[in-house]
Amino acid sequence: MRISASADRKETGQSMIKFGAILNLRMTPPYEERMMNQHSDKLDFSGRVAIVTGAGGGLGRQHALALAARGAKVVVNDFGKPASEGALTAAEAVVAEIHAAGGSAIANNGSVTDADAMAAMVQEAMTAWGRIDILVNNAGILRDKSFTKMEMDDFRLVMEVHVMGAVVCTKAVWDIMRAQNYGRIVMTTSSSGLYGNFGQSNYGAAKMALVGLMQTLSIEGAKFDIRVNCLAPTAATQMTQGILPPEVLKAFQPEFVTPAMLVLAADDAPNRTILCAGAGTFAAANITMTNGVWIGTDTDTPEHLHAQLAEVTDRKAETVPKSGAAQGMNEGLKAANAHSEN
Ligand SMILES: NC(=O)c1ccc[n+]([C@@H]2O[C@H](COP(=O)([O-])OP(=O)(O)OC[C@H]3O[C@@H](n4cnc5c(N)ncnc54)[C@H](O)[C@@H]3O)[C@@H](O)[C@H]2O)c1
Repeated sequence: MRISASADRKETGQSMIKFGAILNLRMTPPYEERMMNQHSDKLDFSGRVAIVTGAGGGLGRQHALALAARGAKVVVNDFGKPASEGALTAAEAVVAEIHAAGGSAIANNGSVTDADAMAAMVQEAMTAWGRIDILVNNAGILRDKSFTKMEMDDFRLVMEVHVMGAVVCTKAVWDIMRAQNYGRIVMTTSSSGLYGNFGQSNYGAAKMALVGLMQTLSIEGAKFDIRVNCLAPTAATQMTQGILPPEVLKAFQPEFVTPAMLVLAADDAPNRTILCAGAGTFAAANITMTNGVWIGTDTDTPEHLHAQLAEVTDRKAETVPKSGAAQGMNEGLKAANAHSEN
């Protein structure tokens, strides 16, 4: 859930306040009860090497900590300089946390948009650990404005960081994953991309582009056991700071999203799945196609289509196509059937 400066945001904020009050009463059962619900088949990442981008804070930090706690060696990437001279960068601070907990990690302070820096990051991990099993493309920024007020530079910057950043990092690990016949890639999408959100035309376009990237890479990677999936999180991070009341922030802690990332990065991960995660709820989103209707190719087809639009968009028999070819197949088949009947 991205909250932007708009009437939509106000409305979302108000319902979240009500919802926060309910959550406050119901959240977090006692520790003993939670321990009793622990699952015995722990997802184990021992021997795996993971890169998490934008992992100096927020969701990425939680992803990196969780992967390391479950045995993975982790490259913690985040763009940035130390707050003061001699201080740690955000990525280095997360690496220090992982080391303190007994895990293995390397910090990387490069930008995901810098292809040379990302190639060097991957090379460093290969030299240290000899393989790259998991890439979590998580780094991101916001430049929210209604489309009327949107500067083209802000549109381009958001596309550059989210889309090209993920492309650059994925390209840097792709041939390594192909050669080792194993890879798990998680793209971080958003409900703003999947469904839209006022004030986020740049961010929404970028986040949906990542779904398109995932759809094709999951097909191209399948025979090398490279599985590519998307995660659509909802979490209280610096991106949502100051916007939501404390009880809502408590319910939407970033670590509550991380289980979905772990499942998408696991040995038995699905391929081509979009998982939505927040506040302990997990759901899947799908790109679907309705069965459609053959209307014809005559000069009055626009009028027929206009009259039959409800039937064309009827969702009863819709499918989740396995590739883009499904649309052409459906169209060709329906046309052939129609012509054979005439
Ligand atoms: N928080 C949410 O509710 C939410 C919802 C949907 C999607 N997301 C996505 O989840 C991801 C993580 O967001 P978050 O909420 O943890 O925000 P965040 O701001 O806490 O984390 C993003 C991190 O990315 C880093 N970053 C930015 N540009 C970078 C670059 N060029 N190279 C390397 N690192 C860079 C930032 O320094 C920051 O640490 C983002 O892709 C965001 O779009 C978040």
